[in-house]
Amino acid sequence: MPIRNTVATLLAVALGAAGEGPPGAASCTGCHGNARAGMAIPPIRGMPAEAIGASMRAFRTGERPATVMDRIAKGFTEEETQAIASWFAPR
Ligand code: HEC
Repeated sequence: MPIRNTVATLLAVALGAAGEGPPGAASCTGCHGNARAGMAIPPIRGMPAEAIGASMRAFRTGERPATVMDRIAKGFTEEETQAIASWFAPR
């Protein structure tokens, strides 16, 4: 690959990473992809921040049953959760 393309690719990757939002947000999108018919995991992009925050709190306390989100929610502080929730909420 010509060096020009390599530089362009690296730049695109770096810019992409910078656009991934607050720490932890990128880890959510692997499972919560885009809205797609028949997808078992609900999309979270576009959910109101309060709804994401409330779900994360309920998962963390065990109030809401989960398969994986209970463990994931426990990995984030309330501040981190708020930042992630605002990032996914409509702006
Ligand atoms: C390993 C896959 C996986 C990852 C990573 C993941 N989730 Fe989830 N998420 C799920 C599944 C599966 C559910 C359904 C509840 C359950 O079974 O745990 C869910 C449910 C949710 C819900 C509830 C949605 C609704 O409709 O009420 C929210 C909010 C949520 N996740 C937020 C997040 C956030 C924020 C992150 C990143 C910090 C994240 N998830 C990372 C798999 C994942």
